[in-house]
Amino acid sequence: MKKRLIITIDGPAGSGKSTVAAQLARRLGITYLDTGAMYRALTWAALERKICLDDASALKRLAQESCIEPAGPAGGDSPSRIRFDGRDITSEIRSPEVTDHSHKIADQPEIRAILVEQQQRIGRTVGSLVTEGRDQGTVVFPDADFKFYLDASEKCRAQRRVEQLKTNGTEVGFDEILSTQQQRDKRDSARAVGPLKIPPDGHVIETTEMDIEQVVETLYNFVIVEEREG
Ligand code: DC
Repeated sequence: MKKRLIITIDGPAGSGKSTVAAQLARRLGITYLDTGAMYRALTWAALERKICLDDASALKRLAQESCIEPAGPAGGDSPSRIRFDGRDITSEIRSPEVTDHSHKIADQPEIRAILVEQQQRIGRTVGSLVTEGRDQGTVVFPDADFKFYLDASEKCRAQRRVEQLKTNGTEVGFDEILSTQQQRDKRDSARAVGPLKIPPDGHVIETTEMDIEQVVETLYNFVIVEEREG
């Protein structure tokens, strides 16, 4: 395989991209980056410090002054570990409160510019990377070797979320999950900077009828075959 390999995986909430990206990275023996966790980490820190999420300059300062370290695979249900100023906040960033507020951070162009720069720096440092989010193939790594866009029907994504929460001991109704997810989809796609969209040269993988192993296998084979032929 080539020395440097950048693979981006974008897609809506619940498309399975975190689990797929983590497993694909493990199979290829390269680094996995969960960029949503970086937006979540800043959201968690802002909530902790009681910074108003509409205060763009306080949030910008927070982003500039803090150290967000994606710290590799976590195992279990959480595919990636993350530290904020040295503290491991892997489970804190998955709270419903952080999930509900993270769009406020993700909507701020200045915050995005800082995190995009950090993600590009991580890419340069580690060399090869599977990175997932909303804007990885379009904005952060426009020259990536492989760009995937994972999708699934909204009902399927909501059902996956219901089951995932149940496994973690939380019972939430399907209708509630579906309606929150519709709001997140709308916000993600309507964002002025770095919106969720299919990269022009991206490969769309429709995963409604597939399980995680099949999706990982599909992406892995795609990469391996292309790399062999290229
Ligand atoms: O994928 P996730 O649910 O962990 O993402 C958390 C939030 O960050 C969500 O509001 C979408 C946003 N996000 C983003 O705007 N750009 C990314 N590259 C990754 C996530």
